[in-house]
Amino acid sequence: MAQSEHIAVGVAGATGYAGQELMRLLARHPRARLTAAMGSSASSPHRSLPGLAHLWDGAIVPLDVDLLARDTDAVFLALPEDASADVVPALLERGRRVFDLSGAYRLRDSTQRAHWYPKVAAMPDGSTYGLTEQCRAELPAARLVACPGCYPTPAVLALAPLARAGLIAGDIVIDAKSGVSGAGKKPTERTHFSECHGSVSAYGIFAHRHGAEIEQELGRPVTFVPHLVPLDRGILETIYVRLPAGAGDGAIEAVYREAYASSPFVRLTGADLPTVKQVAWTNFCDIGWKVDAASGRAVIVACIDNLLKGAAGQAVQSFNVAFGFDERTGLWQ
Ligand SMILES: NC(=O)c1ccc[n+]([C@@H]2O[C@H](COP(=O)([O-])OP(=O)(O)OC[C@H]3O[C@@H](n4cnc5c(N)ncnc54)[C@H](OP(=O)(O)O)[C@@H]3O)[C@@H](O)[C@H]2O)c1
Repeated sequence: MAQSEHIAVGVAGATGYAGQELMRLLARHPRARLTAAMGSSASSPHRSLPGLAHLWDGAIVPLDVDLLARDTDAVFLALPEDASADVVPALLERGRRVFDLSGAYRLRDSTQRAHWYPKVAAMPDGSTYGLTEQCRAELPAARLVACPGCYPTPAVLALAPLARAGLIAGDIVIDAKSGVSGAGKKPTERTHFSECHGSVSAYGIFAHRHGAEIEQELGRPVTFVPHLVPLDRGILETIYVRLPAGAGDGAIEAVYREAYASSPFVRLTGADLPTVKQVAWTNFCDIGWKVDAASGRAVIVACIDNLLKGAAGQAVQSFNVAFGFDERTGLWQ
């Protein structure tokens, strides 16, 4: 591919929360040309996206895998996982490169996958778990990029470097809070405005598929407790760990600085703890921390925008690396 060429890209699930963010990013991406945007079933009528008027004025057409493959080099899937499980093999067979935002292809262990994503019996060759900061070397050859879940993204970015460096001595507790867009656009009894406005609730304790994903990436158990908070977007995770004897604030900082020296979207805030407001509408993951040297306890706080670094932004970041563009292309705004 000549450097000046554009990549023809398509989005399936373009009418959803994550899909609309993809459309917003890809419509302005200087190296991508949006050639297909699809909604749900074959029976849904052609639609427009009023929120993207003047940025992208095309029509959303019903999902059609042949059409999607015909008009594109790369495809972004922002579909429910069962729909992704159906569509991915067909796209790969047709030689398209796929960036899947669903969880369908994230879990490598077949037992875990059978439990959480039973429609996916086998992982296709050339699949990569697409946390960009840890898979840059694999992306140029990847056929299928399984973009990480929104909760696992800040958790793994915050914990993986510390785990690799031997800086976690005991249990890991991840107290995670998400805005309601994390659950997609269709309200349920739990996510309905009148249920979540003015309230905070814990859910999915010991029973959330993102717990399995975090454990896969860290190679150790975690206690992961998600909460729903009355925000439209954003995730904040407060993470509790114990450090080995003698390790302190300086060790954490040195490990993070080395791990993320070449990572434009990870911002290390140290004792100046991050907030959701600072990362909303951006592709940044902000990580701050405090250490109680006397007891060896550390608390790490990590924040993202679930629809950008936790979904569409990270997918575009991985697309950039996969196609040899600057990682920030179309995201540095
Ligand atoms: N929301 C987040 O923060 C987030 C973060 C990371 C990953 N994800 C993952 O990204 C995917 C999309 O999430 P979302 O929150 O954007 O969901 P969403 O708002 O509910 O949107 C779902 C999209 O998929 C389409 N769709 C629904 N059922 C379908 C089917 N059976 N076949 C084909 N298309 C179908 C919908 O089309 P219609 O409009 O025509 O119904 C819509 O475009 C999910 O797998 C989710 O787990 C979401």
